[in-house]
Amino acid sequence: MISFRDRSIVSIRDMSHDDLIKIVETTELVKNGEISGFLEGKTVATLFFEPSTRTRLSFESAVFKSGGSVFGIANPKASSQSKGESFADSIKTVAGYCDVIVIRHPVEGAARMASELSSTPVINAGDGSNQHPTQTFLDLFTINEQFGRLDNLKIGMMGDLKYGRTVHSLAHALALFGNELTFISPSSLKMPGHILKELDHRNITYRSISNLEEAGDHDLDILYATRIQKERFGDPQEYEKVAGIYRITPETIQLLGKNIRVMHPLPRVDEIAEEVDSMPNAIYFTQAHNGIPTRQALLGLVTGGLD
Ligand code: CP
Repeated sequence: MISFRDRSIVSIRDMSHDDLIKIVETTELVKNGEISGFLEGKTVATLFFEPSTRTRLSFESAVFKSGGSVFGIANPKASSQSKGESFADSIKTVAGYCDVIVIRHPVEGAARMASELSSTPVINAGDGSNQHPTQTFLDLFTINEQFGRLDNLKIGMMGDLKYGRTVHSLAHALALFGNELTFISPSSLKMPGHILKELDHRNITYRSISNLEEAGDHDLDILYATRIQKERFGDPQEYEKVAGIYRITPETIQLLGKNIRVMHPLPRVDEIAEEVDSMPNAIYFTQAHNGIPTRQALLGLVTGGLD
């Protein structure tokens, strides 16, 4: 039997196919209102050392909706790290104040390090360009809700595939289910080699293209768009070369197929025109709202309330 009790959630690479199914199925129970109140008496700390709208606020809402308590840091300048406290000391201290730590940090590997320092489980809410596993859980839940399955889908991932942690986590997860992947990016922002190697290892069919229109040849079920991650570029001129390179408009939807679903982890900058929002293809706000039951389910599993 799969148990998440007291388990840190750091990377999709640590997770099995059955782990992901368990999270999706538990999320469904929570969303349908079949289980509630499972975080009563539990306290969650949200430590965000990078900006966030959806992840932090949906975690916090998830805790309230399930009967728990939440506190945290939304602005790192307001923590004692600005006075020189080490990351390790902060984590070891906060671990004694709560039942779970949710952390977002600009440094890749920070969540893994926190999980090794903490006496309570740690959930990675995004570490640099590396991983964003809870985004992937809600993405999988949304895909399953829309298509009734997580396999045999043709999925395009578009935009910043080099620095985008959401697509790194999602590619790993989709590979566990057997899906065909089309990567659409400028040549400077391709999917990292270590992820392609993993896809080869799992015999996943994938292709890399740079022209969005060319994706029309591949009969996509889903186009997962991402923002070019300006804040990760060392050289602003390199960002300017690719800023605004892709833009999804109603005409793009026509070209890609009228049944295509458009997903995006958000925030968006200019890669999806606002006219697309009212089209039935646009599911990115539904996707964002699914962050609540997904994070409720995950917190319930990790704290043992849903074991
Ligand atoms: N999708 C996502 O991680 O959004 P935020 O950066 O607003 O949390």
